Amino acid sequence: MKKITDLDLKGKKVIIRVDYNVPINDKGEIVDDNRIRESLQTINYCLDNDCKIILLSHLGKVKTEEDLKKKSLRVVAERLSELTNKEVIFVGATRGDLVNNTISNMKAKDIVMLENTRFEDLDGKKESGCDNELAKYWASLGDVFINDAFGTCHRAHASNVGIANNIKEKAVGFLVQKELDNLLPIINEPARPFTVILGGAKIVDKIETIRNLVKKADYILVGGAMAYTFLKAKGIETGKSLIDEESLDFAKEMLSLTDKIILPVDHLASDSVDNNNYTTKEELDINDIGLDIGPKTISLFESYIEKSKTIFWNGPMGYYENPTYQNGTKELCDYISKLDITSIVGGGDTASCVINMGYKDKFTHVSTGGGASLELLEGKDLPGIGAIK
Ligand code: 3PG
Repeated sequence: MKKITDLDLKGKKVIIRVDYNVPINDKGEIVDDNRIRESLQTINYCLDNDCKIILLSHLGKVKTEEDLKKKSLRVVAERLSELTNKEVIFVGATRGDLVNNTISNMKAKDIVMLENTRFEDLDGKKESGCDNELAKYWASLGDVFINDAFGTCHRAHASNVGIANNIKEKAVGFLVQKELDNLLPIINEPARPFTVILGGAKIVDKIETIRNLVKKADYILVGGAMAYTFLKAKGIETGKSLIDEESLDFAKEMLSLTDKIILPVDHLASDSVDNNNYTTKEELDINDIGLDIGPKTISLFESYIEKSKTIFWNGPMGYYENPTYQNGTKELCDYISKLDITSIVGGGDTASCVINMGYKDKFTHVSTGGGASLELLEGKDLPGIGAIK
């Protein structure tokens, strides 16, 4: 597979697929710009090579006309402009005269960003369905294609796989390369003991990952709402905690197959997710909602982390949207940050937590891809990578 440095980019028109699917709050502000920052190495390399840079990204899912107003990439273009200290020419369209004319008028070192590629989903899912006519059109806009959207590599969409299939000169960017360099060794031959920390709400999205990890990992520490589904599957009272009902049988099956799955032994419990008054409990009552792991669980999890040589972490340990319930996640961050081990954070909410809590540089690698890193861990080939190969 070609890397960006294997191509002669001098003065070329380079289409870069980035993943700027960043969290944006109700006020329209970007709350975590890590994915934009992580794309800068590839963009700067292209600027140094006097390229004309055409950026493509999706932002969220686009299903209604209303989404067209809420999911514009304009705010992302403004942030990129601040980070590069350069004008980023935002084109509020995904194809047509405006796109064509703007690109024909580009000069060396210009950066153009097109509108959210998923705006093309409103009329027949052209982006997500990998429509070949659309992919061919996007591919025709440049001379070279760089896939640097690691977070989207588990999708086979027109703007990644489609473009790659319709252009000769293609490679992965620095970000994708960095992700593979960090993730593949822990998937193929992790230094042991290899401990996986899983959290978040839903098991159903992670079933295949858990199946694969039961074979590969030495310990699987489960926190977050996901833990309550496992506890319920064991017949333990979980009160009104969030349960992923459709995954109860799967949880039972996993618990019967292995004793590698380590579950919380105490909880911060309250009667509502917005209530900051909680009680630390080893056993939940029928009205309790478990909202974070308790101190005994933190110590238990730390005892496994302490003897590990590799850690992969996906999913917060508590209801992190309320800062009161970020303690378990923060304590584990702090503990891992002091150890001399390979520590990888698998994207998504966990990456945002680790970055916002100030621990990014203390981990070996904080991935920009939640779903993509999990699919790699499942042992799957990522279509976005395959199309470049
Ligand atoms: C992500 O945030 O995981 C990627 O940007 C992919 O987004 P998607 O799940 O909407 O395809």
